[in-house]
Amino acid sequence: MAFDKFKDECGVFGIYGHPEAANLTYLGLYALQHRGQESCGIVASDGARMRAHRGMGLVADVFKHALLARLLVALRRKDKPFLYLDTHAGAGLYDLEHPWAKKNAEYRAGIGRIFGSEDVPPLAAPYLEAVRAENPDGRLRRYPGSPLIARGLLRAGDRAILSELNKKDCAQLEALFARDRRVVVRLMDGYQSLKAHLPPKERRGLVLIDSSFDRKHEFDDRRHPPCPQS
Ligand SMILES: C[S@@+](CC[C@H](N)C(=O)[O-])C[C@H]1O[C@@H](n2cnc3c(N)ncnc32)[C@H](O)[C@@H]1O
Repeated sequence: MAFDKFKDECGVFGIYGHPEAANLTYLGLYALQHRGQESCGIVASDGARMRAHRGMGLVADVFKHALLARLLVALRRKDKPFLYLDTHAGAGLYDLEHPWAKKNAEYRAGIGRIFGSEDVPPLAAPYLEAVRAENPDGRLRRYPGSPLIARGLLRAGDRAILSELNKKDCAQLEALFARDRRVVVRLMDGYQSLKAHLPPKERRGLVLIDSSFDRKHEFDDRRHPPCPQS
């Protein structure tokens, strides 16, 4: 075997015999990634079979949408309405046939591999349903971002607030959600949005803070956030 050892830099996190092992492992990997990271994955076993989910990128890039869908499913277990607050909402929907998406075609090694599969772990099912809902003809051409994944899981009484600072992305969000009275789109800084909208009147909800964290001074002065290019 060419690589029978971990690289020096690899971080490994394991949990044994706990019903929430996969969720806790996600948090454990998150806590390790400040050391630097190229890819990550989680392998789960029920003692008989092993299931692996892995990909290139930071922990949140690899797992975030599947986890988001699962958390929303968990919130729906109670009848009481909830608020979904997406502080860095993005454009909402992505065209996988755009030259930009085709350039590295990273989706082929990720969602592309499970999109048509019938053998999908139940934990990934709500996420996959959201992606399939955007591609009803069965051909993977559009990829929903967090706002659309969340919308599919909102009930009649639930609400969503989406903040985005990029004007073009925000305009696309507004167009996507124009007819959905449960959803409010705001052209505003996500951290200001946190302050403005919490705590929610529902007293329960989920906040996704999904910044790219690619600006050096992101947290230096929150009163004057740098504006992403539009
Ligand atoms: C990683 S993307 C979000 C992806 C989205 N949450 C999804 O999963 O589909 C980060 C987004 O944050 C936006 N952004 C950057 N700084 C921001 C800020 N201070 N407040 C709100 N949005 C911001 C960027 O324009 C970009 O669209």
